[in-house]
Amino acid sequence: MRANHLEDFYTFLRFPSVSTDDDYAEKLNECAHWLIEKLTAIGLEAELVPTPGHPVVWARNKHQPGRRTVMIYGHYDVQPPDPLDLWDSPPFEPVLKDGYVFARGATDNKGQILSHILGVQETIEQSGDLPVNLHFVIEGEEEIGSGNLGNFLHQHRDQLNCDVVMVSDTGMVSKGIPTLSYGLRGVAALELKVTGAKIDLHSGVFGGAVANPIAVLSRLLATLHDGKGRIAIDGFYDRVAALQDWEREMWRKLPIDIDAEILKESGAAALVGEEGFSTLERIWARPTAEINGIGGGYQGQGTKTVIPSHAMAKLTFRLVPDQDGDEIVALAKKHMQKHMSPGATIEMSSGHTGPWYLTDPNAKFGKAAQHALSKAFNREVALIREGGSIPIVSEFRNILGVETLLLGLALPDCRAHSPNENFPLENLDAGIRMNKAVLQEMAS
Ligand code: BES
Ligand code: MN
Repeated sequence: MRANHLEDFYTFLRFPSVSTDDDYAEKLNECAHWLIEKLTAIGLEAELVPTPGHPVVWARNKHQPGRRTVMIYGHYDVQPPDPLDLWDSPPFEPVLKDGYVFARGATDNKGQILSHILGVQETIEQSGDLPVNLHFVIEGEEEIGSGNLGNFLHQHRDQLNCDVVMVSDTGMVSKGIPTLSYGLRGVAALELKVTGAKIDLHSGVFGGAVANPIAVLSRLLATLHDGKGRIAIDGFYDRVAALQDWEREMWRKLPIDIDAEILKESGAAALVGEEGFSTLERIWARPTAEINGIGGGYQGQGTKTVIPSHAMAKLTFRLVPDQDGDEIVALAKKHMQKHMSPGATIEMSSGHTGPWYLTDPNAKFGKAAQHALSKAFNREVALIREGGSIPIVSEFRNILGVETLLLGLALPDCRAHSPNENFPLENLDAGIRMNKAVLQEMAS
């Protein structure tokens, strides 16, 4: 690893570019400016494009007619580092331990997008130019649903005309095994607020006479799943596409023991989920309903004999082909209304949604990517889907009319979104090799 590359990685990681928290807006701006400087320094033409939210970084080489055009997409925003006390070192002061760099964003997505930038840098240094026409589009709002990027794509549709998009923001099945993901789950968010009395009440004076909104909400949340781990919302599975036999077969043969891996990485006591499907199938090809947060009532020390006036919960659904986010949210709302108990009311607001993505890994560019991957890693390529979401990927298809190659470099134990997130320098290096191999392959 070149010392300059490592210095770039550390500098990138030191920006606390937490997109969800307005207090960090200036830090995102500084991070975007640093990217502009870096991309300019390696010989690209780079531009900071403001949005109503965080700016988009857009860079390109000199385009020549007759060459393929590739867009590389990534994000410079990161998830909040909380809870801070669980980090072994400060999240925005990167440290290197046994070949792994620890910092928020190390894997998701700074290490991965930087490896592409460094790959492009090395190619330009070595050959004076790239074998393709290139766009870098690096946004600052991926972790909050990419709300403004669709507009950016619409506005610059003609200039962004390309043959294929390449993204490294997904996983590898394990270290050293090149992985092409051909599917992502979608996501849809719904927030619930249950209100009982107009104020918090004395539970001795009113207990037994009025509804407790926390109890009402708990009963409601308990209706989300049946005893077999299936989601009990009417119509929820109506559009779910069945898993194909070839995928089932292929995933069964992957060189990983996912159950053991998840037990180890999560520390959970046992694996649970929908009956009738393997763990990989449940994560990659089946929808879920998750309760991400819950609140209400007294949370302080000791006891407080009170009937709270409110309770709230935040839900998200992970969606699979061919589910529709808006339809799922509507079905979920109907379900909640139907299961409400008397004496309380419910307000519901839907949050961001992002569609699922599914492409053919054996179509033209998919095949080319597989070829480049196996060359860069000297191993057979694993073809997988992902449980996570990258909302903008379906927009690349809808707005620009192109497919996306998901060439992830995240390891199963990278701790993305968790304390002690890390990225091995080995993968930064592999990403550089992968970038060169894929651009070369795309050119021919
Ligand atoms: N890099 C992830 C997406 C991802 C995670 C893909 C794991 C494959 C495996 C991305 O940065 C992310 O976290 N996306 C969010 C999107 C949401 C905020 C709309 C997600 O999946 O929760
Ligand atoms: Mn993420």
